[in-house]
Amino acid sequence: MTTESRLPDHEIPTIEVDELRAMQLERLQRTVRAAYEHVPHYREAFDATGFHPDDLQSLGDVSRLPFTTKADLRANYPFGMFAVPREQVVRVHASSGTTGRPTVVGYTKGDIDTWADLVARSIRLAGGHPGDVVHVAYGYGLFTGGLGAHYGVERLGATVVPVSGGMTERQVQLIRDFGPRVIMVTPSYFLSLLDEMERSGVDPASTSLQVGIFGAEPWTESMRQEIERRTGMDAVDIYGLSEVMGPGVAQEAATTKDGLHIWEDHFYPEIIDPVTEQVLPDGELGELVLTSLTKQAMPVIRYRTRDLTRLLPGTAVPSMRRMEKVTGRTDDMMIIRGVNVFPTQIEEHVLAEPRLSPYFQCVLTQPGRMVELTVLVEPLAPLGAGEADEIARTLEATVKRRIGTSCRVEVRDPGSIERSVGKARRIVDERPKE
Ligand code: DLL
Repeated sequence: MTTESRLPDHEIPTIEVDELRAMQLERLQRTVRAAYEHVPHYREAFDATGFHPDDLQSLGDVSRLPFTTKADLRANYPFGMFAVPREQVVRVHASSGTTGRPTVVGYTKGDIDTWADLVARSIRLAGGHPGDVVHVAYGYGLFTGGLGAHYGVERLGATVVPVSGGMTERQVQLIRDFGPRVIMVTPSYFLSLLDEMERSGVDPASTSLQVGIFGAEPWTESMRQEIERRTGMDAVDIYGLSEVMGPGVAQEAATTKDGLHIWEDHFYPEIIDPVTEQVLPDGELGELVLTSLTKQAMPVIRYRTRDLTRLLPGTAVPSMRRMEKVTGRTDDMMIIRGVNVFPTQIEEHVLAEPRLSPYFQCVLTQPGRMVELTVLVEPLAPLGAGEADEIARTLEATVKRRIGTSCRVEVRDPGSIERSVGKARRIVDERPKE
């Protein structure tokens, strides 16, 4: 039995589970060995736990490997995590690094090739086809969104329009002129594009767009319904992170819209309890941990993503597990008087009020000993007397009843909540710094 897939890697795999598990083990053994032999950080981390690559005999042994965190990447800034000579690295990307040093990731020519394949597959699963025109409004540059999507579109055999983020008016013009069938963009920036369409007299339901591949930030089922209702498109989710590759680690199918298939022939997923670090069984909510199976320049072993989700059985791609839509990041979890709250939970209730726009922000303050949450929202159109108050009190009561936390809701003027051209900033932390 061969353990290599029979289809080209840019097609959706039809591999059976047994064959997939054998392939994963073989690829994992190769990855772990390369990491141990070529990256001092991994050698030290493995040696410290007494683990040797020869000990890896089954997929279950993965849980004996040490975790890798963003701090490990920072400590090895810029190129210390590379497993190949720098001359073989044809591209680097980096995280924005709002706190401390950025994290740098590198790709060999082979890695770029795999990445293009996986994004091409992802676009297919999302309902894109060779020959489509694809508008890419993810940012180009050190962020992996733009270039990652771009190479995937080309690999698929579609026409890429490399617009990047920003210049919203021009984006709308290009959509009208070029007639893309597919758009790849953050869901929050897509909302700004919809607003701009409406402002300039274009009915969002009348454009050529049929498929939206939205990711890079958490978004809810309610947001999907809102976008689909306003546009008539299929809105599907794409997941990824620069440390593990970029967009295209997991993709939701347009035919099922039931969570994201992880491309398990290239990434091995686990879910752990973020506190005890114990591996949890499939179906339980916890932190996603990913191990790369084919990356050459920068293999990652048990990378702690901080993203909360659960693993579910495959549907559209039967042998590959799905991850549920990401609830949020452990570091975006607000703890308000002991209750854990994620911006996605707030989003659902904001979207349920038809008079409000989908933009909102969670502001954290700490006037005394207690942390307080203020949710800033804005109406779609100016409100009548007493309406703002009524909306605020109702939303406060819903949040209390459904999420279990007290918050204050402030209804601001239409258009006043911060817009972003990439990832939305949902939490504004105004607590005093220690
Ligand atoms: O955001 C890669 C990407 C670009 C994915 C375009 C999808 C589309 P980073 O900037 O390294 O990479 O940020 C990764 O973004 O750990 C999640 O917290 C969040 N994230 C990415 N996709 C999703 C998603 C890119 N579909 C971090 N749902 C991840 C929820 C997402 N969160």
